[in-house]
Amino acid sequence: MEQTFIMIKPDGVQRNLVGEIIGRFEKKGFSLKGLKLLSVERGFAEKHYEDLSSKPFFNGLVEYIISGPVVAMIWEGKNVVTTGRKIIGATNPSDSAPGTIRGDFAVDIGRNVIHGSDSVGSARKEIALWFPEGPVAWSSSLN
Ligand code: CMP
Repeated sequence: MEQTFIMIKPDGVQRNLVGEIIGRFEKKGFSLKGLKLLSVERGFAEKHYEDLSSKPFFNGLVEYIISGPVVAMIWEGKNVVTTGRKIIGATNPSDSAPGTIRGDFAVDIGRNVIHGSDSVGSARKEIALWFPEGPVAWSSSLN
């Protein structure tokens, strides 16, 4: 079954949108397969966004992602990559339709609340990067 990587960015966490966002994916019919709240370091954020390293907004984007905790998730279901991107809305919130997450909760492309993989290949890569221990941490690794 298809999986995608979804990240609620620091602004989404700070604005208490985690439950709202998870609810939208759940109500659509997708299944939550991995979930964690974490802060990432600069090098990790640069790796996640390495395809954008030549963009003028790259440094600002990295500063934004490391500015506070994010929620990293794996969601599973039919066409979840494409449909997940529809639920999220266009990258620039000025272009995101009302009813989408960015259309309802964001105004600034530099503070657009959420990230979703743009292809099945990116999803595989991003899931491997963010969940190297696998989707679920085992209690035996806690002590
Ligand atoms: P995301 O879906 O995480 O994918 C790449 C991110 O780069 C995007 O959301 C935005 O947060 C950011 N981004 C894309 N274009 C711009 C831009 N013109 N200015 C600032 N940030 C941008």
